[in-house]
Amino acid sequence: MTEQRRLRSQGWFGGRDKHGFMYRSWMKNQGFPEHQFDGRPVIGICNTFSELTPCNAHFRKLAEHVRRGVLEAGGFPVEFPVFSNGESNLRPTAMLTRNLASMDVEEALRGNPVDAVVLLVGCDKTTPALLMGAASVDLPTIVVSGGPMLSGRHRGQQIGSGTMVWQWSEDVKAGNLSLDEFLSAEASQSRSAGSCNTMGTASTMACLAEALGTSLPHNAAIPAVDSRRYVLAHLSGARIVEMVHEDLRLSKVLTREAFENAIRVCAAIGGSTNAVIHLKAIAGRLGVPLELEDWTEVGHGTPTIVDLQPSGRLLMEDFYYAGGLPGVIRRLGDDGRLPHPDALTVNGKSLWQNTERSEVYDDSCIRELTDPLVPDGSLRILRGNLAPKGAVLKPSAATPELMKHRGRAVVFSDYDDYLARIDDPELDIDENCVMVLQNVGPKGYPGMPELGNMGLPPKLLERGITDMVRVSDARMSGTAYGTVVLHVAPEAAAGGPLAVVRDGDEIELDADAGVLRLCVSDEELAERMEGLPTDPAPQLPGGYQSLYVREVLQADEGCDFGFLRGCRGSAVPKLSH
Ligand code: FES
Ligand code: MG
Repeated sequence: MTEQRRLRSQGWFGGRDKHGFMYRSWMKNQGFPEHQFDGRPVIGICNTFSELTPCNAHFRKLAEHVRRGVLEAGGFPVEFPVFSNGESNLRPTAMLTRNLASMDVEEALRGNPVDAVVLLVGCDKTTPALLMGAASVDLPTIVVSGGPMLSGRHRGQQIGSGTMVWQWSEDVKAGNLSLDEFLSAEASQSRSAGSCNTMGTASTMACLAEALGTSLPHNAAIPAVDSRRYVLAHLSGARIVEMVHEDLRLSKVLTREAFENAIRVCAAIGGSTNAVIHLKAIAGRLGVPLELEDWTEVGHGTPTIVDLQPSGRLLMEDFYYAGGLPGVIRRLGDDGRLPHPDALTVNGKSLWQNTERSEVYDDSCIRELTDPLVPDGSLRILRGNLAPKGAVLKPSAATPELMKHRGRAVVFSDYDDYLARIDDPELDIDENCVMVLQNVGPKGYPGMPELGNMGLPPKLLERGITDMVRVSDARMSGTAYGTVVLHVAPEAAAGGPLAVVRDGDEIELDADAGVLRLCVSDEELAERMEGLPTDPAPQLPGGYQSLYVREVLQADEGCDFGFLRGCRGSAVPKLSH
């Protein structure tokens, strides 16, 4: 089983000297026999298991199945933990630590004797964090997602992770649902291991990891507890060993073409706005050019055909049974809408070779392109004097009539201000107003939380109003919906024009034309912006947060740290003893 090409792990394990002794000897305390150090591929299993990341809490079992595959193919599996970004618990937001986790991954990979890596990802930020870190090292890499939870079920009704929380909490405020009834759905929403079962950010990023070619086909949708998820983990473990022999590195998969495929797929699935930030950050690690306008140019005109919440009705379990992502890609490809069918994937085949014979078993879940859920589901990139560096809106989750709207601004200076005033019956607001939330961006909050879909005023909910235009420098959960303008850049706290919007200003949104405008003169805007601070102080003294606030790039740059962009390779570092 000796590898002809000397692998990087032999930089540790291959020496017949005191260094080789030390690297091998300490590993042998785990019971590894001598022959495992003979030059066979050492496969890192990068695990985001954590009981505080409930979506990834089944990953010990997942890792075991990857390990079986690695062993079967003649590799040497070594599992290691990295920082786990749990969306549901982490405050102020899991986005704050996405870059931290990516640094953890990068340094763990480069500093350790591994020749390739399997990334175990699930909950929202774990997918981009691990891909970003791995991209900066560029070893052979394969993604194994944990899979979505089974469909939520409550009193005969199918309920989706997150989406039902947004809907039902507004129903409580509107007086249409009792608080007890609402709270009784907690366990019914999350009734198995896995990530959010809606087309939220976790499912979106799992789909995009598949569309990018970084996972085996069907990785995105197989339910977490389905035995086929474990088969996929096993096969991924076997495949990564072959990828070492083929030297099939991540950079050969994550090409510009792959990102264009992912943008098109994101529109077809009604994917999360968070994808804009994460794909940009991943691309940045490999020097692949990707601009906000690519979402318009590449995605433009792509129908949303996947009828999943929050854009539509169904859930990930239904999606898998309907044919999963391969079915979607087949539909796009058959219609000539897959920009790069020949893009290489981790199994050594092209995206189209993997999907050209895929079937769709339920046209109501994966709809025909001629009968779409939304005729043009591409994420809209907005610009204008209110967002000189861009903003994002998701049309499949918006109210069509509000996509073009002009209204009076009602401004909340931060989230505490919003919380303090939103329930006030005296708040001067009606359904035609534009709700503006400031200082919830990357530096301002910090971490750019998912607060952009701020709940409507109860007095309007009681009147049956269900949507209003909202504008902020925050993000929005992929499970959420509404005519919500997000990621306004530059953010208010970094001196963006959003900081100077005042109550009573008019704001104009034209999503299809890509316009977000504050209706004041250039002179007036310049005057208001004079002397705006651009460099906010961190709210905690020192620590990671201060690094974050100092280094984080704006949303249009993917919110990475400037110093993390680029690939620093996998050369074996200097000796440690
Ligand atoms: Fe983990 Fe939604 S909270 S995927
Ligand atoms: Mg989220």
